[in-house]
Amino acid sequence: MGHPYDSYRSLFPILSTHVYLASCSQSALAQPVSHAIEEYHHHLLTRGNNWSLAMERVKAARRRFADIIGAEPDEVAVLSSASDAISSLATSFSYQQGKNKVICTEMDFPTVGHIWLAQRKFGANVSFIRSSNEIIDTEQYEKEVTHDTLLTCVPHVCYYNGYKQDLGEIADIVHSKNSLLFVDAYQSAGHIPINVREMDIDILVAGTRKYMLGIPGTTFLYIKKNLAERLEPRVTGWLGQEKTAMFDIYKLAPGVGARRFETGTPSFISVYAAHAALELLHSVGVHNIYAYLQEVTCFALEYGREKGICISGSQSVEYRSSLISFYVENASEVERRLKEKNIVVSARNDVIRIAPHFYNTKEEVRYAIDELIDLINGR
Ligand SMILES: Cc1ncc(COP(=O)(O)O)c(C=O)c1O
Repeated sequence: MGHPYDSYRSLFPILSTHVYLASCSQSALAQPVSHAIEEYHHHLLTRGNNWSLAMERVKAARRRFADIIGAEPDEVAVLSSASDAISSLATSFSYQQGKNKVICTEMDFPTVGHIWLAQRKFGANVSFIRSSNEIIDTEQYEKEVTHDTLLTCVPHVCYYNGYKQDLGEIADIVHSKNSLLFVDAYQSAGHIPINVREMDIDILVAGTRKYMLGIPGTTFLYIKKNLAERLEPRVTGWLGQEKTAMFDIYKLAPGVGARRFETGTPSFISVYAAHAALELLHSVGVHNIYAYLQEVTCFALEYGREKGICISGSQSVEYRSSLISFYVENASEVERRLKEKNIVVSARNDVIRIAPHFYNTKEEVRYAIDELIDLINGR
């Protein structure tokens, strides 16, 4: 079978010179995203202040992201980084005795652990669910989430090895203990379908520079509306208020839903990029992207096994994203040497991550694996 998205490849100039497989870090830049960045820049350069237009773009990006995850626009805040979004969230809890436990997992991105550990001095009792063989069984949630758990934080997909968790099953367990479920979807949003209602997710964060085809500076924070309205973040600002246009310094009145988590002026140039990127994703369809990438994943798993190279995490396509991590000594050095051959992948500790998106072909994945094996074998 040929590549079903061949006609999109010309939108990504880097694909004509590189084998680009680093969507787990930064996806390839598409022409429409690049044009949106230029549009913002050009407007500023030639016509000056463009506040209203830029705020319209923030609204449109929020709406499109909400649509992609099955939420209402008021349930989505537009922020700059996942770390900022989670930190804001952390300031909105009171960590009362008896309901102050925050659970993270060893498979979370480190920033998640750092932020919750920093809340210990405000009363949070933080613990970690350990992984075994680089996966986490849902029974572990059953055991470790207890009735004093305020919040359970899980990654949808693990940044290190692409392990994908069953969020619906985890939500059932977490909610049966009266805990809230927080999902870090930075490594899944844009290529794995998410429906916050069907999956019963309370809070979700996702930045745009990885599989959502954007650039750094825009992150979305989803919070279920009735939950958001019970929370008052201590990290706030004028754009998080109910009536931003009042300029009333004496009145603190949190905005509707998740909007109260917004603070000051967002990075407009990044929001322009995010909006164009989300429109492109929408036109291809996240469900279609997921179906194609499952095929690519099956291929990569089989080909890697055939070549005798060790793969981290689940070996079953059902429990993984398209990100495949191959164990390699000196991973950073190998990443650098592959880059010299115009193959862009991403190293973490002891693995090389090959992270295709819909614009990649199986042949590119095969070529990257072959070149990786040659380097491992000292050729
Ligand atoms: C799963 C995941 N969460 C969070 C982050 C950190 O995001 P930010 O730098 O926007 O805080 C990353 C970055 O790589 C990530 O992969």
